[in-house]
Parts: sequence; structure tokens; C-alpha cells
Amino acid sequence: MRLSNLTATALVAAVSAAPTTPLPYIRRATTASERLGLTWLGGNSSLPKILILYTGGTIASGSIYGALDDTQYGQLQINGEQIIARNPYLLNNTQLAVSNWTTEEDGSTGTNDALVMNMTRFAHDALCSEDSDIVGAVYTHGTNSLEETAFLMDSLVNCGKPIVAAGAMRPWTHLSFDGDANFFDAVMLAASPEARNRGLLVAFNSRIIPGYWATKLHSTNPNAFGATATGDLGLFLNNLPIFYNSASQPLFKHYFDISSVSAYPSYPALPKVDILYAAREFDGKLVLDAQANGAKGVVIAGTGNGGVPTGQEEIAEALQSGLQVVVGTRSPFGPSSPNKTPTYAKSGFVHVIQARIMLQLAIASGMNMNQTIDLFEGGLRKAMGQPWSPGL
Ligand SMILES: *[C@@H]1O[C@H](CO)[C@@H](O)[C@H](O)[C@H]1NC(C)=O
Ligand SMILES: *[C@@H]1O[C@H](CO)[C@@H](O)[C@H](O)[C@H]1NC(C)=O
Ligand SMILES: *[C@@H]1O[C@H](CO)[C@@H](O)[C@H](O)[C@H]1NC(C)=O
Ligand SMILES: *[C@@H]1O[C@H](CO)[C@@H](O)[C@H](O)[C@H]1NC(C)=O
Ligand SMILES: *[C@@H]1O[C@H](CO)[C@@H](O)[C@H](O)[C@H]1NC(C)=O
Repeated sequence: MRLSNLTATALVAAVSAAPTTPLPYIRRATTASERLGLTWLGGNSSLPKILILYTGGTIASGSIYGALDDTQYGQLQINGEQIIARNPYLLNNTQLAVSNWTTEEDGSTGTNDALVMNMTRFAHDALCSEDSDIVGAVYTHGTNSLEETAFLMDSLVNCGKPIVAAGAMRPWTHLSFDGDANFFDAVMLAASPEARNRGLLVAFNSRIIPGYWATKLHSTNPNAFGATATGDLGLFLNNLPIFYNSASQPLFKHYFDISSVSAYPSYPALPKVDILYAAREFDGKLVLDAQANGAKGVVIAGTGNGGVPTGQEEIAEALQSGLQVVVGTRSPFGPSSPNKTPTYAKSGFVHVIQARIMLQLAIASGMNMNQTIDLFEGGLRKAMGQPWSPGL
């Protein structure tokens, strides 16, 4: 914060008027790195600083079943420093500091809401504070929920600095571990000025995929990720990021103010929101059950353009008693478009997995059902020329 001239003058006056007894020596942290106690590896201080948020995942996992196993691994673990040590090229290009977000329990995937919320707050502080000396961040993550953390961080960290997701589909004991290349690519992408102002990015299988749209499209293949709307933003050649699209951001994207997303005591981490998958004879009682079980919101993976074949009565009953409902589509591509007279939100182009995160953030930001409807539908509704009309 800059002092106004007036304040500065007043301070000088106050200091000169003070008695000359020496003040106790207070060492002030001058950078976010110092304040957060980050230790930079590499030692070439002219290289960009990239923060490694390390949650583990397959990229950290090895197998006791040999070099062919890519399904039963997880008995062996390496930490962030060890991943960095595997690749001598990393520290010739960047300085890296590891922030450890693995858990005692599952050692790997960083899948609980509290942990990823805490990590997001930490990343926001490290990258977006006025004293930040950090150029960008990479988070390593289990691939099963990588996209959930991508959407969460993309919705909350918004100061133009790149955050890049990295992971692997094969353990490091495998004869063709994909994690080293994915990790190197992610670090180079986070260090690239070209990556600024593009939102969160996923570096996977030599592809640059926008985090907002990213989803896991294949359960075992190294080419596991893709976007549900739009194509890749670029790729890697010689492990360097090459963009072939100009910087762009999803339309209707909403940034939540991280300081108004309430945590404990309102919610231990984020409010409980469940996803229900609709099919023929969908049982609306599941919605009431979810609510009785503590859910504050439910996202339904609807049929086609956000249809819910049965159960409307129960949904209405749950809405009446304060549950928030968002209906997306179980189709991999395409929208769940707004209803003329909404009682719940349709998710637009936001995938149901990401819609769950968005609904959690909406509820934690104090939005009611109508505000949530506007959050999910407002932009698309306007673009479609279909205003929200009260019931006729
Ligand atoms: C440090 O990095 C700079 C910028 O890439 C490079 O020019 C310089 O040679 C490096 N210094 C050492 C000691 O490697
Ligand atoms: C890293 O930099 C050092 C010092 O400049 C150099 O000796 C070494 O060959 C470089 N390593 C790689 C892998 O480029
Ligand atoms: C990371 O944190 C976990 C959980 O607190 C701990 O078990 C582990 O030893 C830590 N790893 C490192 C390298 O500090
Ligand atoms: C998240 O941070 C809060 C506040 O510092 C702490 O109480 C809680 O234990 C943390 N949770 C996890 C899972 O790290
Ligand atoms: C939500 O909007 C509808 C339609 O405009 C209105 O009838 C209803 O009272 C609103 N509910 C709340 C909680 O604001």
C-alpha cells in the first residue's frame, strides 16, 4: 500500500519527535516467498519463480508390481523435491519451491474440499498479494479429480498469473512414465509470459487445455484430457509451450471473490453439494434424501438438454425447503439451456462435475436460488434472447 504524501509527512514528523531510544529490531518480510517460508531450489536468481503445489496423485506414485503395471500402483510415493530431482532441465529454466498438500490418509489425490480450498487460498496469497515475487504456479494432482480443482482455482484466483495443472496416467515405475514430461511442460507453461491472462491451464500429453472446460475423457489412456467446449489452446514442441490461439476466456465465466466465500464456521470447507445422475425412471426421492443427508445443493446430470424425466414433485418440495438445484446434461458436449420460467438453474455449458463446484461457491458466497439461477443462466439467457419470464 502506498502512503499518501500527507501520511508520509505526518510519519516523518512523528518519528523525528519520538525519543531517541532505539526501537526493537523488527525484520519485515519483503516478499511473499519470505512471508510464506518458501525455499527456492535452483539457485539462479535471475530465473522465474514457479510455485509447485504438490498434492501427489499418480504422478507421485510407484508400483511394487513392476514396469508393466499401470492399474494397481500406489504402494510407493515420491515427494515434490524428488519429482524435481528426476529432471535436470527444470532448474536450468526456473526456480522452484514445493508447497506440500498431500494428506496423511490417502497420500495422493488431494480430493477433499477443505484441502483444495486451503490450497487455493494459499495460491491466491502467493500469486496475487502485492508482495508476490512469484511468476506462476503448477499443481500436481490425481487425474480423477484434477478438473474439479482446476475449476475451483480458476473461479477464485484471478490476477492474470498462470496456474497449470499437471498429472500422470502411469506411475513412475512404468516403462513409459508420462509424468516427467507432463510436469516439465507444466512448469515451462507456468513460466511463459504467453500463458498470462488465459485462466487456469492443463498441460497434459503435450496439449494445452483450458482448465475451465477440461474433463477426463479417457479413464486409462495417457491422452486422458480434453475440453467439453472449444479446442486446445496450443501444444508443446521440444517441451516448450506453443499457443496457436490468442488469449481468450470462456464467455459467462464468473469469478468469485475468495474473501467472500465463507469457510468455517459457516461451512467446514465448502457446503455439501451432491451430483445425481438422471436416467429413465429417475427417482426424485434421491433429491430429498440428499437434502436429509445434509446437502445444501444438488446437481442433476440431466438427459439431453437438461431434462429430468421424472421426480419433478420431489424437486419442487426440496426447493421449497431451501435446497438449491442445478440441472446440467449427462451428454459430454453441449449446453443445458435455460427454461423460460425457471424454478431451478440449468447449467449452461458448465459440465456437471464443474457445476457442483460452482454451486458450492455460489452457496458459500451467500447467493439464494434466484441469484444462482442468474449466475448459471444470465449470460446465455441474454445471448439466446430468452428473458426470465414470470410464470404465466
Ligand atoms: C542464470 O539464468 C540466466 C537466464 O537464463 C542465464 O543467462 C545465466 O547463464 C544463468 N546463470 C547460471 C550461473 O547458470
Ligand atoms: C544446466 O546448466 C548448467 C550450467 O549452465 C550446464 O552445465 C548444464 O549443462 C545444464 N544442463 C542442462 C540439462 O541443460
Ligand atoms: C507432506 O505432508 C504430509 C501430510 O502432512 C506428510 O505426511 C509428509 O511427510 C509431507 N511431505 C514432505 C516432503 O514434507
Ligand atoms: C484448512 O485450513 C483450516 C484453517 O487454517 C484448518 O483448520 C484446517 O485443518 C485445514 N484443512 C485441511 C484439510 O488442510
Ligand atoms: C425468485 O424469483 C421469482 C420470479 O421473479 C419470485 O417470484 C420469487 O419470489 C423469487 N424468490 C426469491 C427468494 O427471491
